[in-house]
Amino acid sequence: MPAFEKNIYVTMPALAPLAEVNAYLEKVWASGIMTHNGPLVQQFERDFSAWSGHEKSVAVNNGTLAIQLALRALDLPAGGEIITTPFTFIATISSILYEGFKPVCADIDPETLNLDPAKIEALITDKTVAILPVHVFGNPCDCEAIDAVAKRHGLKVVYDAAHAVGVTYKGKSVFTYGDVSTTSFHATKLLNTSEGGGVFSTDPEVDRKVRELRFFGYNAEKDVDLVGTNAKMTEVNAAIGLANLRYLSHIVADRKAKYCLYRSLLAQNPTLAFQKIDPSCNCSYFPVIFDSEATLLRVEAALRRDHVFARRYFYPSVNTYAKLGITNACPISEDISKRILCLPLYWTLPEEAVRKIAELVLAAI
Ligand SMILES: Cc1ncc(COP(=O)(O)O)c(C=O)c1O
Repeated sequence: MPAFEKNIYVTMPALAPLAEVNAYLEKVWASGIMTHNGPLVQQFERDFSAWSGHEKSVAVNNGTLAIQLALRALDLPAGGEIITTPFTFIATISSILYEGFKPVCADIDPETLNLDPAKIEALITDKTVAILPVHVFGNPCDCEAIDAVAKRHGLKVVYDAAHAVGVTYKGKSVFTYGDVSTTSFHATKLLNTSEGGGVFSTDPEVDRKVRELRFFGYNAEKDVDLVGTNAKMTEVNAAIGLANLRYLSHIVADRKAKYCLYRSLLAQNPTLAFQKIDPSCNCSYFPVIFDSEATLLRVEAALRRDHVFARRYFYPSVNTYAKLGITNACPISEDISKRILCLPLYWTLPEEAVRKIAELVLAAI
């Protein structure tokens, strides 16, 4: 008999009680305003900024467009090179390509799994225009070192903080670092609006441009200022976000507790390695690094037989996708991406399930 009767997936959305979402939806129905930067989107932007401790949020319809708008708002020289990480979700790279830039991958730090600041400088050319790091699995990058490299070479920095809701660096929200930061409010993220994203900049000019870009390029005078797009968050999405936001502190605390439990149970096996995390990491994922891909495949298959669906995240290292035309080899990212597996971790996952999954992993190794 499998260890679990029902399938356990790598994640499940963290959802407020439906009645609380409905209370917000009633406001939408009463106002008849479904979109166009309505009152709930504005409230979501204010409340989320207050919760996370940064100045301003621009809510958009997903985390991919958030990156695209961030790049556009910086007015970077067309066709320039952007140094980024190969250990990320495809959206980081496809956004760079969609905006007409060339992604250049610098390898990662094998412990933090973030872009290694020491590997950036060797890749800077006269075509480099920006650096685009990712706070991988909610573990903050070495922002100080990255920002120092950027300053030395006159480059812009865009942080893909899709995983980093609730994360701080040196006591400040990670969203306050770089020229601009972006996040995702996708259903799988700590705070979800079903689909959604956010753009954050302390530069009022960048903030203004992102607001215009998400709304077809219109400025406050209803003149078209920029070539924009439609990246608006709807009122229905904001309603879901506002209801979920009330639970966000509990959700983060719950993740951290389950992360620590997994880690203490799995630490029994010295062949397993874990991401080196900063105390402010939001523990939104639980990645385990095995000694080989063969071990990972064996564990993954054994879990599946017990109805547990872990996920190879991030796999493969994005620099190896042939169609993307990225030529740099990134041996550390390529190696780790073959050996890393994310175990189920979500709000409604019972603690007993964490214990059972850890047992299954240890037995399968
Ligand atoms: C690192 C990273 N960047 C960007 C995105 C894109 O976010 P979205 O799915 O909201 O478009 C994701 C989504 O999972 C991600 O993991």
